[in-house]
Amino acid sequence: MAHLFNRNVLLGVSGGIAAYKSAEVVRQLQEQGATVRVIMTHGAQEFITPLTLQALSGHPVHTQLLDEQAEQGMGHIELARWADLLLIAPATADLIARLAAGRADDLLTTVSLATPAPVLLAPAMNQQMWRDQATAANIETLQRRDLHFIGPAAGEQACGDIGPGRMEQPPAIAAAAAALFHTGALAGKKVVITAGPTRELLDPVRYISNHSSGKMGYALAQAAIDAGAVTTLVSGPVSLDPPAHAKCHRVESAQEMLDSCLDLVADCDIFIACAAVADYRPAQIEGQKIKKGAEEISLQLVKNPDIVNAVAAGESAPFTVGFAAETQNVLGYARDKMQRKGLNMIIANDVSDHGIGFNSNENEVTVLWETGEQALSRAGKPAIARQIMGLIAKATKN
Ligand code: C5P
Repeated sequence: MAHLFNRNVLLGVSGGIAAYKSAEVVRQLQEQGATVRVIMTHGAQEFITPLTLQALSGHPVHTQLLDEQAEQGMGHIELARWADLLLIAPATADLIARLAAGRADDLLTTVSLATPAPVLLAPAMNQQMWRDQATAANIETLQRRDLHFIGPAAGEQACGDIGPGRMEQPPAIAAAAAALFHTGALAGKKVVITAGPTRELLDPVRYISNHSSGKMGYALAQAAIDAGAVTTLVSGPVSLDPPAHAKCHRVESAQEMLDSCLDLVADCDIFIACAAVADYRPAQIEGQKIKKGAEEISLQLVKNPDIVNAVAAGESAPFTVGFAAETQNVLGYARDKMQRKGLNMIIANDVSDHGIGFNSNENEVTVLWETGEQALSRAGKPAIARQIMGLIAKATKN
């Protein structure tokens, strides 16, 4: 099966003897259905010529960061945006160190920083270099940043040593690339996701809102797209760009979010309520800016509609997923909320721990459904989102 069908894979080749195997990596990726473009470092060109990889990939190979020609056509930012996956094979110890340091001193490291796509590394180096503490620390840093790894394998090395450090074989590398996309788990399903905060106007210049960043909802949208779903975000005001291939409806207030969602769920299989909707809004929006005067003023608030509840209560409701941010008795309150709101699944997190949830890059959650639950240990939001999407796919499989 072509698991990388419709996927753009940017293959980065750095300078190690395993670079001779990149030609076969290109072939294996293409066999999985991918469109492949190649970036080579200066060192890589000492081991294999750009012409070989150009002939195999069918596209000019990119080698220079400062290349006027390339910047007029597909420059480094376009390449970074074009990629659905950046695969670096082989990834040498030096390349790994430069990535860990966040360097952008050549085209490959610059694109690595500039791409929103997942990054998969196939390390290749001498066994002693692989075992060195500096390399181990760099790998740990990159894993914490959600970069993915395949290999290295162990065995006889080009230098005569025996041990870990050989680049994985090209078929295993292509399979690891395909596995990142969970291709088809939600193929053709329509998914609607709410994300971010809402803003409730007080007067023409002021509003009530919260600190929700939208990161979790946007990560869920990316994971849904990667799983093949037709994905729509209904987003409150955030400073994130929606993932490529997502439709995005931008809203401000809870009422606007509700209207948008009710329109969309008429034709939707899965609804995920990730937004931090304001529970209350000002009873009235003043037509003019409220003037400073009295020592005290009071604000009358009225309850906002519960969006996820309204969706779940609708006729032919989609599979509906909500979130529960709790500070105590987390699982008990979450299960109660799932039943009260008529949800099929709820994702519970303990917001008394400041390292996770709301505005942070990491999360640690427990996913609950009617007949089971699964804890997902602390990880970056994209990794948590992929696991949540896997559980939703399993629960909605006919
Ligand atoms: O009741 P509580 O705010 O704790 O519920 C959280 C869940 O309900 C989240 O999934 C959130 O997106 C959703 N919600 C909603 N509309 C509201 C309030 C919460 O959809 N007005």
